[in-house]
Amino acid sequence: MGTSGVKVIALASDGALIGSAIEAYPLYTPKAGWTEQDPADWWSGTKKALKKVLALCQDYETAAIGLSGQMHGMVALDANMQVVRKAILWNDQRTDKQCKEITQLAGGEAGLLALTNNQMLTGYTGGKIRWLQQNEPELYEKTRWILNPKDYIRWLLSGERLTEVSDASGTGLYDVKNNEWSLKLLEKLSINPDMLPPVVESTAVAGTVSKEAAAETGLIQGTPISGGGGDAVISTTGLGLVRPGRIGVTLGTSGVVAMGLPEFMPNPEGSLQVFRGNAPDTFTAMGVTLAAAGSYEWFRNALGQYERVQAKEQGKSAFYLLDQDAAKTPAGADDLIFLPYLTGERCPVFDPNARGAFVGLTGLHEKGHFSRAVMEGVAYSLRQVFELIVGANRSWIEAGEVVLAGGGAVSPVWRQIFADVFQLPVHTVYGSAEGGSFGAALVAGVTAGIWKDLNEAVKLVKPETETLPDPENKAVYDKLYGRYEKLYDALKFTFDAS
Ligand code: XUL
Repeated sequence: MGTSGVKVIALASDGALIGSAIEAYPLYTPKAGWTEQDPADWWSGTKKALKKVLALCQDYETAAIGLSGQMHGMVALDANMQVVRKAILWNDQRTDKQCKEITQLAGGEAGLLALTNNQMLTGYTGGKIRWLQQNEPELYEKTRWILNPKDYIRWLLSGERLTEVSDASGTGLYDVKNNEWSLKLLEKLSINPDMLPPVVESTAVAGTVSKEAAAETGLIQGTPISGGGGDAVISTTGLGLVRPGRIGVTLGTSGVVAMGLPEFMPNPEGSLQVFRGNAPDTFTAMGVTLAAAGSYEWFRNALGQYERVQAKEQGKSAFYLLDQDAAKTPAGADDLIFLPYLTGERCPVFDPNARGAFVGLTGLHEKGHFSRAVMEGVAYSLRQVFELIVGANRSWIEAGEVVLAGGGAVSPVWRQIFADVFQLPVHTVYGSAEGGSFGAALVAGVTAGIWKDLNEAVKLVKPETETLPDPENKAVYDKLYGRYEKLYDALKFTFDAS
């Protein structure tokens, strides 16, 4: 269950993709920096997409259902499991004040890291709960349960209120090291632990399809539902990165650089997100750039009017046409640099008030320079995150390649830019275009006993495309990356929200 829509895929036990369907739903931005969705839209989209995919599955028996979802969102529910307000999402930035208070109540950054191994980022659920306490006390009063988005769908499918370790980690209230809610932190924040659901492993059975849901969806009553995972973690699993050594970059609305870890890793100064992984007793280290493919989507919507019209006439995508322009533009976009902080930023800088920019503009720049600069700026940002992760994991990492996934990975131009900016081979792999859904299907296969464990399941994940770095572009990208790294500090004084 993503931010722009829900995707349902059906995966056969031999690894063949039987079919998939996507249903879009609206995103509400009641104020700048606020993002909300109506959980009822998630459910109606899920039912529609399920119907389409189940129609393709008539020759199959469903062994298990996997769940993946946008992380960190807050679904507040009353005692009758009715939604008390729209869900507040992962990319909402309203909780800066609350996150600072939480950090202080936890004894400062070091104190908070000792309790959860993570900072309280504005995206996380913990700050949203405190925001509700302070700003909508009458709704907080009514709230009996807090669930993350995919776990709300689990509730509708099964009647079970449960979550699993990866989404629990992403609330910022979970003691990642000891695998339990941080009761100490909850107490300091006056949050009743009973509001939060019990936590299971991602591969555990976490509910079965109820009679009511079977009638509503066409699924078979009693079908097991696996714990599943938060999308950023479970798409890493779906890329085959359950063991360390390779780095995955997912270009969805947000951009995630992630690596699987075989054991607990203290979060270096809280600069990364270190969460529980989908295989028991594993972990995932990641860093998130908030507007990755989201930056390119913004560019298409705001400045790609011509391409949108042309795309309709030619039966192509507007992104494809913008890519063609970018491909004709020299590497480095003649020194035009884009800073992708359109919705604030999380990593490597944590600043909800950060803003985007084009820097280095001259009268010679044309439209293609802009689309290329947007793609390159996203790659620079993700290279910064990559260097943080590699820096923190010297002993585990070979980082001899990057596995690229998500909607943006479909673009050969963007793949080449990543290979050149990272100076590493870039691979896409089987299933990578399906994002979190593919990981969720692999995890569900383990839950159903089709594969012994995730190491067995990820054998399906074979390379599909390879893009090699062009050594001729190394110098220009190293030069511009060096400039890019200095831009945040140089422009910071303009990012004041007041
Ligand atoms: C991960 C994160 C995003 C959302 C996007 O920490 O915030 O990847 O999960 O769906």
